[in-house]
Amino acid sequence: MWKRNIEVFLYNPKYIENLANVVRSCACFGLNRVYYSGDRINLNQKRVPRGLRMYKEIELINNLPSFNNKYPIAVEVGDYTRLHKFSSLLEKNIILVFGPEDGNIPSHILSLCFDFITIDTLHPLNLANCVSILLYKLNEIEKNTQ
Ligand SMILES: C[S@@+](CC[C@H](N)C(=O)[O-])C[C@H]1O[C@@H](n2cnc3c(N)ncnc32)[C@H](O)[C@@H]1O
Repeated sequence: MWKRNIEVFLYNPKYIENLANVVRSCACFGLNRVYYSGDRINLNQKRVPRGLRMYKEIELINNLPSFNNKYPIAVEVGDYTRLHKFSSLLEKNIILVFGPEDGNIPSHILSLCFDFITIDTLHPLNLANCVSILLYKLNEIEKNTQ
């Protein structure tokens, strides 16, 4: 399991179910913090999904993260470097950046990122699935490099 601090940042997510599933995945893989920006998700609604109620170990922050002393990596659809080349990134203080369900990571956020990852798929993945796949892959890379 993670020996380092890896964080996740969702740019302006739209669906509370995705946020909940991201929090759940992050808790499963031993992360501590999830950032999300925007005001499209209302956490005070009547039926809050289980993922947002259960995993108290995840600090959920509705704000843009500071990228100071961090290594922001954009995870985006497109022709970016493929995931399997990224074992060297595990030494860094990674913050994984994801775009919204109905858009992409905007250019002002992309320009702050040091690296870019595309998961090689035929169609864009669901946001929460994308986070899970990436965390699984990074976890496997870390296990195999110990
Ligand atoms: C549902 S996707 C956005 C779909 C996009 N607007 C489109 O239809 O081309 C939401 C976010 O998931 C991530 N994502 C989805 N599929 C991905 C992939 N194959 N590789 C990397 N990131 C992906 C990206 O961060 C993306 O901004």
